[in-house]
Amino acid sequence: MENNSLVTIAKFSREKILYLIDMAREFEKSPNRKLLEGRVVATLFFEPSTRTRLSFETAANRLGARVIGFADPKVTSNTKGETLKDTIMMVSNYADVIVMRHFLEGAAQYASEVSPIPILNAGDGANQHPSQTMLDLFTIYQTQGKLDGLNIYLVGDLKYGRTVHSLLTAMRHFSPTFHFIAPDELAMPKYYKMYCREHGIKYVEHKDFDADTISDADILYMTRVQRERFTDLMEYERVKDLYLLKRDMLSKARPNMKILHPLPRVNEIEYSIDETPYAYYFQQARNGLYARQALICDALGITLDDVRNDKTIIA
Ligand code: CP
Repeated sequence: MENNSLVTIAKFSREKILYLIDMAREFEKSPNRKLLEGRVVATLFFEPSTRTRLSFETAANRLGARVIGFADPKVTSNTKGETLKDTIMMVSNYADVIVMRHFLEGAAQYASEVSPIPILNAGDGANQHPSQTMLDLFTIYQTQGKLDGLNIYLVGDLKYGRTVHSLLTAMRHFSPTFHFIAPDELAMPKYYKMYCREHGIKYVEHKDFDADTISDADILYMTRVQRERFTDLMEYERVKDLYLLKRDMLSKARPNMKILHPLPRVNEIEYSIDETPYAYYFQQARNGLYARQALICDALGITLDDVRNDKTIIA
């Protein structure tokens, strides 16, 4: 069904991304409003989450909407065999927009095709995580003052990491140079390398992860090796600690360089790095609130002008 769903970040043009960043900046200035009073936002999480679910729910709550949903499908009729289609049809009777995380690649696309109300993809398997990408783009813009022409290093699990797949897709509008650092088992999939070539995105693959290699990074995007995506746990054990960012590796970093991580962190970034000016992952997670306020509003037809002219701001 045609609606305002967000399944993949590929849907957004350069102009639309910049527009949503402008909207998120408005919410950063004043997150508490009554713009969504009377609306209901459903959050359906078939996979665990801390940041995505809580920031979507906070986004809705701070805009005056009510939130329904579940964080664990085991407490729903999913366990009795209810299909995803029927679940979506039921929830669309109660809510105005559905935020859904699912473990299956393609689940968000399917849900958007059967749903009469917008679906916001909060992560589908190893495929896409478009709302994370909007907060990543907002954060990159906030820290670099631009999105164009940046050196972006992606480190860790580039095979299953839906956040890096989404980010790469969105950055096609902004002439980046990507640097991929991953073990062979978790290398960037051929599909995305082909995507880079088709869209004129420069990329370099590295094996080393040291101060020299990352010295020209503007953004160092660390990712977790995701245990839950491995069928062979021996393979997980072999690769899980291969790329650990240590404080002394920042000795040659550019002054503007920021370390991002979608979180949760397991063992990718030494804790002492949190105290350095390069660490930006907690602010990044905070930006999830503003970016998701923008995405919910956009899905419900609320425009940037509506936000700028909004008289419902609560101090
Ligand atoms: N970044 C992210 O998706 O975190 P959660 O899994 O906690 O939602």
